[in-house]
Amino acid sequence: MPIAKHLAQVSLVLALLPVAAGCAPATPVAQPTTAPAADVKKTYADMVLCYPQLGAESDWRTANTASIKETAEQLGIKQLVFSDAQQKQENQIAAVRACIQQSVSVIALPPVVEDGWDAVLTEAKNAGIPVIIVDRSVSSDPSLYASHIGSDMVLEGQRAAAEMNKLLPEGGAILELSGTTGSGAAVGRAEGFRADLNANITILDSQTGNFTRAEAKPVMEAFLKKYEGQFQGIFVHNDDMAIGAIEAIKAAGIQPGELKIVSVDGTRGGFQAMADGWIQADVECNPLLGPQVFEMALKLMNGEPIEKSVLTNETVYYPDDALELLPTRQY
Ligand code: AHR
Repeated sequence: MPIAKHLAQVSLVLALLPVAAGCAPATPVAQPTTAPAADVKKTYADMVLCYPQLGAESDWRTANTASIKETAEQLGIKQLVFSDAQQKQENQIAAVRACIQQSVSVIALPPVVEDGWDAVLTEAKNAGIPVIIVDRSVSSDPSLYASHIGSDMVLEGQRAAAEMNKLLPEGGAILELSGTTGSGAAVGRAEGFRADLNANITILDSQTGNFTRAEAKPVMEAFLKKYEGQFQGIFVHNDDMAIGAIEAIKAAGIQPGELKIVSVDGTRGGFQAMADGWIQADVECNPLLGPQVFEMALKLMNGEPIEKSVLTNETVYYPDDALELLPTRQY
């Protein structure tokens, strides 16, 4: 065969090879060694967590903020979107909406009050952003949020009632300094307290001090004027308000222990007031929720199962070992 004709035939065969290969039965093809992106587990380095804090009204709140910020730092999350709503629900709602716009991974919301969250929780749900309710509760349908992490506020109220019952075994009259009106903490504590308070103890009056020292003091001053000599005890919904109330009580010339005070939180200030004889029992409310919040947020990002409700394990503190425990308190 002339060389030119032979070369032409070889070229034809080579040109047809890919076609022939395409028709051949499939041969195994090496698979990529990395899994497709959707199967890769998310880590803390991928996490953008939104924490629209409700305010800075108490030592409890300061400790809660610190726990969130410190845990974010320790875990090395991508970004913590933190804001302070100054105890205003409209500020919290605006902060949640900004986080939805930013497409954060998870929103962890400590709601200032229980009602009024349906619209913004629906918006988060429609955007595919899971919401963890932190600390206080919401009255919205549970289908609108992933989970709640926090204290059992009703149980705290029941524990406070049990302490008041022990402090006033013969019964008597008391006053209540309540937390922020409409907040899960105030509603739950008031409910639990009333449920377990002995029938021979009467609540003469209940006013809010909005969980702050500054607002509790004038409320206590007014109570002291109005009910002078008519009450033996006070149930105070947090230690900051107890400290504000004690200032007013001291100024009225009343001695430590003359009025039986039951408070909530277990802050350093509360421990000091117990050591000084002003508070007779302090029902614990733990603000150090950072580790649980971030752990759950990561599970949500990976579509892993989570508990619908995670309650904090808490106790009651007393004056007898308050001074000894004071240096060990983290908040
Ligand atoms: O929701 C928790 C309560 O809020 C704490 O008892 C109080 O100190 C804080 O302001």
